[in-house]
Amino acid sequence: MTTTKGLEGIVATTSSISSIIDGILTYRGIDIDELAEKATFEEVAYLLWYGKLPNQSELDQLLSDLSANSAIPTAVIDQMRLYPKDTNSMAALRTAVSSLSLYDLSANDMSRDANVLKAIKLQAQIPTVIAAFARIREGKEVISPKSGVSIAENFLYMLTGDKPDKVAIEALDKALVLHADHELNASTFAARVTVATLSDIYSGVTSAIGALKGPLHGGANEAVMAMLDEIGSLDNVESYVNKKLENKEKLMGFGHRVYKNGDPRAKHLEKMSRALGEITGNMKWYDMSIKIEEIVTGKKGLRPNVDFYSASCYTYLKIPRDLFTPIFAISRASGWTAHILEQYDNNRLIRPRAEYTGPVNQSYVPIDQRS
Ligand code: ACO
Repeated sequence: MTTTKGLEGIVATTSSISSIIDGILTYRGIDIDELAEKATFEEVAYLLWYGKLPNQSELDQLLSDLSANSAIPTAVIDQMRLYPKDTNSMAALRTAVSSLSLYDLSANDMSRDANVLKAIKLQAQIPTVIAAFARIREGKEVISPKSGVSIAENFLYMLTGDKPDKVAIEALDKALVLHADHELNASTFAARVTVATLSDIYSGVTSAIGALKGPLHGGANEAVMAMLDEIGSLDNVESYVNKKLENKEKLMGFGHRVYKNGDPRAKHLEKMSRALGEITGNMKWYDMSIKIEEIVTGKKGLRPNVDFYSASCYTYLKIPRDLFTPIFAISRASGWTAHILEQYDNNRLIRPRAEYTGPVNQSYVPIDQRS
């Protein structure tokens, strides 16, 4: 038996949803660079679920289905009011998404139509859950979702109660496009493993949220902002980064298991961070990020990944730091659910082996004879 630590290089399934070939990321064969410039998040979600871009009436239908499903049960809001005020936001999201299944009569209906509907419903409800949690912990009223607006606009509206400006909506929408799917990343794999037992879609998405939470995966965007806050100013960047590198500590937002010559999503977020810095008249976070990149790439050859510049972008959008990873979940919900549907369509239990490295030929020792 041969093992590969972290399953590096192991091809665990076939998939027709997204590909990473020679450092180029595509969703259903369309380059992410083109989607980032031209597509809305809702178009991308449709593309991931149905395998093609929607025509106008299909897109209108999806927007109307998302709006119709975006409210969350009062019982789930009431439960959120009972969460401790300092609950980790990803733990809150994981718990609330699991709770949503309790109030969905079709939660365990395994027909394809029911699962497609639940994918849309989860996509619509996750932003509402996150915004409700963010307001409840601040003692504010929960704001109901609006109909007829995009997921990006609705989320910003439900978070603040104000109509968000066009720049913020467009920036968040582009970030959602860029994070929507990424082949067999850790959280998507977790979702596929869960539903491959023929468990339900809510269980799959709950598993995925748990996997996304970690700082080696989605949690890195929050960790990047914590690092920028800790560094504090451009003048401190060099000494901070050099010390981290000397101590062989990891710098969050750098490196990637699959991309060794740079994450194609990072350049779009870098551009967005610069534009938002210029618009807000505050280049501090952007300038610090660029300087960190110069040093880390120069000294270690490591490039920024998707999480690195998303941290400064969300900060420019005045989003609280601990909502960065939940926002990642808003976007990746589209990819998770597309993969879950694909897994159900051609399912086989995912059950790899482990190479045993423990003791052999041991006997049971009665308790009174144990040291
Ligand atoms: N900072 C400093 N050194 C690093 C970094 C980093 N961010 N990433 C990798 N390295 C170094 C490792 O120390 C290791 O060096 P060594 O061979 O001298 O021991 C080498 O590069 C290989 O690193 P691994 O951790 O083995 O690479 P792996 O493919 O297992 O991990 C990962 C990839 C988890 C993304 C890693 O680069 C990392 O921890 N990055 C920081 C966390 C992060 O940004 N995660 C988000 C990834 S993108 C996403 O999930 C959305």
